[in-house]
Amino acid sequence: MSSTVGQVIRCRAAVAWEAGKPLVIEEVEVAPPQAMEVRLKILYTALCHTDVYFWEAKGQTPVFPRIFGHEAGGIVESVGEGVTELSPGDHVLPVFTGECGECRHCKSEESNMCDLLRINTDRGVMIGDGKSRFSVKGKPIYHFVGTSTFSEYTVVHVGCVAKINPQAPLDKVCVLSCGISTGLGAALNVAKPKPGSVVAIFGLGAVGLAAAEGARLSGASRIIGIDLNPSRFEIAKKFGVTEFLNPKDHDKPIQEVIAAMTDGGVDRSIECTGSISAMISAFECVHDGWGVAVLVGVPNKDDAFKTHPMNVLNERTLKGTFFGNYKPRSDIPVVVEKYMKKELELELEKFITHEVSFLEINKAFEYMLAGESLRCIIRMEP
Ligand SMILES: NC(=O)c1ccc[n+]([C@@H]2O[C@H](COP(=O)([O-])OP(=O)(O)OC[C@H]3O[C@@H](n4cnc5c(N)ncnc54)[C@H](O)[C@@H]3O)[C@@H](O)[C@H]2O)c1
Ligand SMILES: [Zn+2]
Ligand SMILES: [Zn+2]
Repeated sequence: MSSTVGQVIRCRAAVAWEAGKPLVIEEVEVAPPQAMEVRLKILYTALCHTDVYFWEAKGQTPVFPRIFGHEAGGIVESVGEGVTELSPGDHVLPVFTGECGECRHCKSEESNMCDLLRINTDRGVMIGDGKSRFSVKGKPIYHFVGTSTFSEYTVVHVGCVAKINPQAPLDKVCVLSCGISTGLGAALNVAKPKPGSVVAIFGLGAVGLAAAEGARLSGASRIIGIDLNPSRFEIAKKFGVTEFLNPKDHDKPIQEVIAAMTDGGVDRSIECTGSISAMISAFECVHDGWGVAVLVGVPNKDDAFKTHPMNVLNERTLKGTFFGNYKPRSDIPVVVEKYMKKELELELEKFITHEVSFLEINKAFEYMLAGESLRCIIRMEP
């Protein structure tokens, strides 16, 4: 047993003291895991746009000081009381939404919206005792979506941890802990395009391109990528996107352009931007009678979705998903296994455009804000 079990661990973490200000590498104290919690040593973490929104806190509730990060891979350091399914040394992916295994949602085949552990972006404490496990010089630091992976060690509820094959390369499969599973699942589990379908993808970041991969694996005949950033179009070709549209190049609303290109609309659309106008376009561009639109992007807290009810009456379906409807503990180990056995034609390397050391974590934010990166891996060890 490691000498740290039951002890406070002092380690480095990137603390966001204020909204929009560079993260500061601090020595933090990480308390031992309490009942039904595990403490993880994070080896690799990546930046997802959801971290950036809550760090900017322009359209979201400010909760500071906070340790962000939710896309990561690591190893269990120690476990709290009542944890039986994980042991020190297990390789794991923490996930921002959990699976208690007991509630109506966890027992339903259709839902991953666990009553106990579903995503909560405004809570900055552990659900067990309402306290934080992080502090700097005695001052508590808030958690983010129950994961806070921008720290060498973090404490997570056991229901938010997927135990994976220890042979899986953590520096690659860490991107399955949020963005890639989300996009892939949005296509395979939620939009479910039929072979030969025409699919529109709004937002060609890592999440949207993973959705494009899902559409390709489903046998889509045309995949139309829509993005405001033209530099995305070249890279998107590697992900099976066949046609490109930049809303800035058109005078008409993009849904009208898409309808004209597709004889009335696409069969499926998947929105991965976080922009409310793109969400509305993504819904209004699906064909009447059978079209299904899936929202994935995280909206601002005051956004409202406005469309004419006739768009719905005309037999279009609007759906949304967190984490691509995957149940983290049951499904993600299987996705990792399929990736390892190459049963799932998914090259995670294609999504990893940048890599930085933990000390350079602010660069990962710069790359994403400049629209340069898909995923930037942050290495915790030098
Ligand atoms: N539902 C979930 O479970 C879940 C999980 C992960 C991420 N997300 C969300 O998915 C979205 C994408 O995440 P990401 O990490 O791929 O981000 P990203 O920044 O890498 O990609 C977003 C892309 O959308 C484009 N875009 C922005 N506004 C647009 C508009 N109006 N029209 C067309 N394109 C537009 C940007 O240029 C960018 O290329 C974010 O909103 C993120 O918060 C949701
Ligand atoms: Zn994410
Ligand atoms: Zn549950």
